[in-house]
Amino acid sequence: MSFTAEINRRRTFGIVSHPDAGKTTLTEKLLLFGGAIQEAGAVKSNKIKKGATSDFMEIERQRGISVATSVLAFEYRGNKINILDTPGHKDFAEDTFRTLTAVDSVIVVIDVAKGVEEQTEKLVQVCRMRNIPMIVFINKLDREGKDAFDLLDEVEQKLGLKVSPLSFPIGMGYDFKGIYNLWEKNINLFTGDSKRDIEETIEISDLEDPELDELIGESSANTLREEIELVSGIYPEFDKVAYSNGELQPVFFGSALNNFGVRELLDCFINIAPSPRPKQSEERLVEPTESKFTGFVFKIHANMDPNHRDRLAFVKIVSGEFKRNVPYLHVRNNKKLKFSSPNAFFAEKKQIVETSYPGDIVGLHDTGNFKIGDTLTEGEILHYKGIPSFSPEHFRYINNADPLKSKQLYKGIDQLMDEGVAQLFTLEMNGRKVIGTVGALQYEVIQYRLEHEYGAKCTYENLNVYKAAWVEAEDENSEEFKEFKRVKQRYLAQDKAGQLVFLADSQFSLQMSEQKYPSLTFHLTSEFQ
Ligand code: G4P
Repeated sequence: MSFTAEINRRRTFGIVSHPDAGKTTLTEKLLLFGGAIQEAGAVKSNKIKKGATSDFMEIERQRGISVATSVLAFEYRGNKINILDTPGHKDFAEDTFRTLTAVDSVIVVIDVAKGVEEQTEKLVQVCRMRNIPMIVFINKLDREGKDAFDLLDEVEQKLGLKVSPLSFPIGMGYDFKGIYNLWEKNINLFTGDSKRDIEETIEISDLEDPELDELIGESSANTLREEIELVSGIYPEFDKVAYSNGELQPVFFGSALNNFGVRELLDCFINIAPSPRPKQSEERLVEPTESKFTGFVFKIHANMDPNHRDRLAFVKIVSGEFKRNVPYLHVRNNKKLKFSSPNAFFAEKKQIVETSYPGDIVGLHDTGNFKIGDTLTEGEILHYKGIPSFSPEHFRYINNADPLKSKQLYKGIDQLMDEGVAQLFTLEMNGRKVIGTVGALQYEVIQYRLEHEYGAKCTYENLNVYKAAWVEAEDENSEEFKEFKRVKQRYLAQDKAGQLVFLADSQFSLQMSEQKYPSLTFHLTSEFQ
């Protein structure tokens, strides 16, 4: 197959949702369609479920929370599908934000009864900022839920999307009869049997066809006719270009648990979802079809084997072919590295791969060379953009609890920060170290990992910080900047890259500083540079 054909057949995407909306179940069903896992009643078993959430960390197994983000790949109708799994737990939201820099599109799962929830809002906002094409899947139609039109309104208002329904439910919950597929112009009748033949749809190209009344009853048929008329009256017709630009979002309804509406989603997805897209670097826009390999690290996974401190760096291939045993330039370190056992991901397994193409993810064994955001090339100096740090929500001092192990502690902290587990700030005044995280759970993860992987012990001490604001000064020599640094000395720190950060103790203090020092800008993400 030609290089271009390999690129065109790839679909790399992420599924985002609020926890419990059905992301894992949908992932499993997609894998099932790809033949990547066997049906044989295994779908509901914990084994597959664990596989589908790809938990490598013991701590994650203990907690039963999908801490990790990983890759599940399968073939479907000639397409190579790469699903980048994203943790739903809000404490790991930053992991998910970073993974979104590596996807070419997204499927948003919404629970029909709960509607748009908090985590979905946040994640969709990030996708909107990046104009990522999104498909919405409204799940659990076998349960009583909100009215379809009310839900579509909610999706538009709360998520700021412009929807175009491509399927529409016939009834709901107890009364759920099936789905009319506006995209394929057919009907899929619901039987509640997840093992039945999934291809079984009935073509209804004209809704006036009396066959419709026979299939679902006259009253449901009439309601459907009215509703579809309303749909075409209210919502814009689907437009692939608008979808690809992130301006229009098609919506599907279904029930992942019952394997219902999933094939329709997948068939439409492979048709409309973009193949790997060009990516902006600080230097230039890089096209996937360029012959030279480039890629970037969006995720680092640690302690695959707690006895070895090796890590797996997940690299998204942006252009060219990635080959085993070929030396590539690690741009930040200005060092050539070659990889004898790059991993590719298939369903829940990983295996060594010779060649990978744009859109693919390779897992590279790493002994501490990589940091999130690092770029690999064939020699060109390129820096891929867009892996920002957001202001953490929680801040604590970290103290060494075992003075004999301070070297191990600092090495551990250093490496965990490179993986993006949390952010480290060093106070300018006294050099004390502050760990900032998105959720409280990370403190336990860090403590556990420092102890089990590095043999170091730590304790925490609370610190009252409202937000970390990255400080940008118009003129670094100005009197105003000097005064700010003098007055706020106690609250100033450096992040790991040496950037100046203001650890504001209250919203008021941040607002006052903004007013008092107009030549300074306070950013809540590190991406401004
Ligand atoms: P998540 O990854 O988004 O957190 O959600 P997950 O797939 O784990 O699904 C959350 C719960 O919702 C699961 O039930 C799952 O079986 C159920 N679910 C998913 N899709 C559907 C659907 O279409 N209809 C109905 N009725 N339920 C659905 P659970 O009881 O938490 O887990 P389990 O014991 O069933 O595995």
